[in-house]
Amino acid sequence: MSTLPPGRSSWWHILPNTFAVMHDAPGIFSRMRADFGDPFLLRTYNGRIVFSSEPEALRALFTEPTDTFDIFGRRSLTPLLGVHSVLTNDHAPHTRARKLLIPPLHGQMLARLQADMRAAAEVRTAEARAAGEIDALAWCRGVALDVIFRAAFGVRDPSLHQRLRVALARMTDAIHPAFIFIPALQREWLPQYRYFLALRAEFDALLREATDAAANAPESASSVLSALVNARDEAGEKMTWPELRDQMVTILIAGHETSAVAMAWALHFIHARPEIEERLRAELAAAPGDSAAELPYLDAVCHEALRLYPILVEVLRQLAVPWEWCGFRLPAGYCVGAAIWTAHRREETYPEPETFRPERFLERKFSPFEFVPFGGGHRRCIGAAFALTEMRLVLRHFLQSGRWTLHDRTTPPIARRALLMVPATPITLRTAT
Ligand code: HEM
Repeated sequence: MSTLPPGRSSWWHILPNTFAVMHDAPGIFSRMRADFGDPFLLRTYNGRIVFSSEPEALRALFTEPTDTFDIFGRRSLTPLLGVHSVLTNDHAPHTRARKLLIPPLHGQMLARLQADMRAAAEVRTAEARAAGEIDALAWCRGVALDVIFRAAFGVRDPSLHQRLRVALARMTDAIHPAFIFIPALQREWLPQYRYFLALRAEFDALLREATDAAANAPESASSVLSALVNARDEAGEKMTWPELRDQMVTILIAGHETSAVAMAWALHFIHARPEIEERLRAELAAAPGDSAAELPYLDAVCHEALRLYPILVEVLRQLAVPWEWCGFRLPAGYCVGAAIWTAHRREETYPEPETFRPERFLERKFSPFEFVPFGGGHRRCIGAAFALTEMRLVLRHFLQSGRWTLHDRTTPPIARRALLMVPATPITLRTAT
């Protein structure tokens, strides 16, 4: 058996590979797959990473016992999310955090949140129609923030939440991708990093205020905050403030920008392609109001947006022990990754992969190793059901509010914002008469 897959793995590849992943991950994944096949090896500042997009490889990755893997790149996200976050932990603390965070985002709690999702969509859509023009991503971010604040705190405190959302945006905008992809740059003597730390301190103070205000309110009983406040460890101890802070900030960050970008892409394609919009409008007309009828075409549009423009283009794990993957014996310490971008562009699975064609999701069911916008296995996104419900409700409401025209039908280029891939130019929609 060969030891390592082919790729760009010498020390002199480290910097170019790291910058390529940081600025153009889709481009480097596609080029590597074309040049070296699948899997391929990429040596980056954060480690030697073997990537695959093949469904059988992803099946092995997502079904392997969890002890095989440590978390990838813990240091990258720690400044933003803290040392206690579900996203910066592995093994027992990770499992424990997931157990706490999953219930408030699923089942009955999610069913109750639907009313808040509709209400947020209603208020923001009315504002948008009054304004006559929106930047779709900014608009979607507004709705997604309204929704995640309700899910996280359980209560609405408009003035405090307004200050918190401004602080959150300022803090996340200040985290340059270089701090994530090259953690050695997380140095207080670097002015840009110091600026980020100052914004984080401001945000933390407001988060504490909002948390204290919501913690005792009866309406917060079904929130993420309440699940965390009521949690006890094996010794019966409550969570400390730093633990609570880290999980809350994780939910606020992971739970809004992701859905907002996905909704913005969907809005782009719906309005760029009249035949898609008309089919969608016909489906909605047949299921008026808030009826809980199935909306298969709307669901297909949401899935196709997540396929063509996955918000996270890769998910990664570090090997805790040597592991045999895709016919290679990989040493402990190496990293393995699902290249979501290229997995969603396999011709064999998705004919004409660059075309936005929602019908493919009506014609065939894709396996959880072929369609992977939410990752998989023991770290699969805990907000997947939440995000799909939100997308469905918000897009439905937006379309039912009236007609819109897209300023420019050209598909925007994409750019990296922290870990996410986002449209690099505005998606502008105007009210149509
Ligand atoms: C369209 C929207 C979303 C996309 C595309 C998305 C995608 C992802 C992906 C790819 C991962 C990594 C999975 C892995 O490593 O295998 C992830 C993890 C996570 N997501 Fe999402 N996500 C979305 C929405 C949300 C929402 C709405 C929330 C919360 C309300 C959320 C919370 C989380 C958390 C806490 C994790 C960490 C899970 C863990 O490490 O165990 N996400 N998400």
